[in-house]
Amino acid sequence: MNIRPARVSDVPGIQELVGVFADRKLMIRRTKAELYESIREFCVAVDDENRVVGCVALHVFWEDLAEIRCLAVAEALQGEGVGRKLVDWCWEVARELEVKSIFALTTATEFFLRCGYRVIEKTELPHEIWSECVRCPAFPECRESAVLRSGDDVPQATARTRVLASSAARLF
Ligand SMILES: CC(C)(COP(=O)(O)OP(=O)(O)OC[C@H]1O[C@@H](n2cnc3c(N)ncnc32)[C@H](O)[C@@H]1OP(=O)(O)O)[C@@H](O)C(=O)NCCC(=O)NCCS
Repeated sequence: MNIRPARVSDVPGIQELVGVFADRKLMIRRTKAELYESIREFCVAVDDENRVVGCVALHVFWEDLAEIRCLAVAEALQGEGVGRKLVDWCWEVARELEVKSIFALTTATEFFLRCGYRVIEKTELPHEIWSECVRCPAFPECRESAVLRSGDDVPQATARTRVLASSAARLF
């Protein structure tokens, strides 16, 4: 098992993996064009034969906020720590970019709690994030929670992030 930044040759594998869970209405389906355009946002887990068995993308929204997207682990490998590694990769990238907080909209709430995230009110997130919601198979009946992880030691934190972090702290 290897976790590494995605390459264009991974796109068919990512699309297939995401498609499995999109069929179950757990994820938004992605076209190849979307995946190629955003390939630099992706990290993949690959097996010994270089097949994609896990994927995640980190999409930067603003100077202090990024979103975890397209998180999926092949069913046969779930429960073995791959998902946590992918989410931790997002956190490391966010730190390198000096993005202070990352969030996800997810039905896998318990998984994110295990990975150090906190549940926040969806209304705490900026309106821009809802642009993808119309593409969600569950729209308009949202079943997802908002989860957030925020660090305190990244320089130049903005007021916007402080509002998010303090809101989460108030809730927990
Ligand atoms: C959610 C998902 C990515 C988790 O990946 P995974 O590789 O199975 O997770 P991990 O093995 O790294 O689990 C990390 C921890 O979360 C826990 N966990 C994982 N999935 C869980 C679940 N559904 N419910 C409760 N706990 C869960 C694990 O037990 C583990 O706990 P630990 O702290 O005791 O070790 C995977 O189940 C998946 O691909 N689901 C389908 C697609 C999906 O829902 N994606 C999320 C969209 S945001």
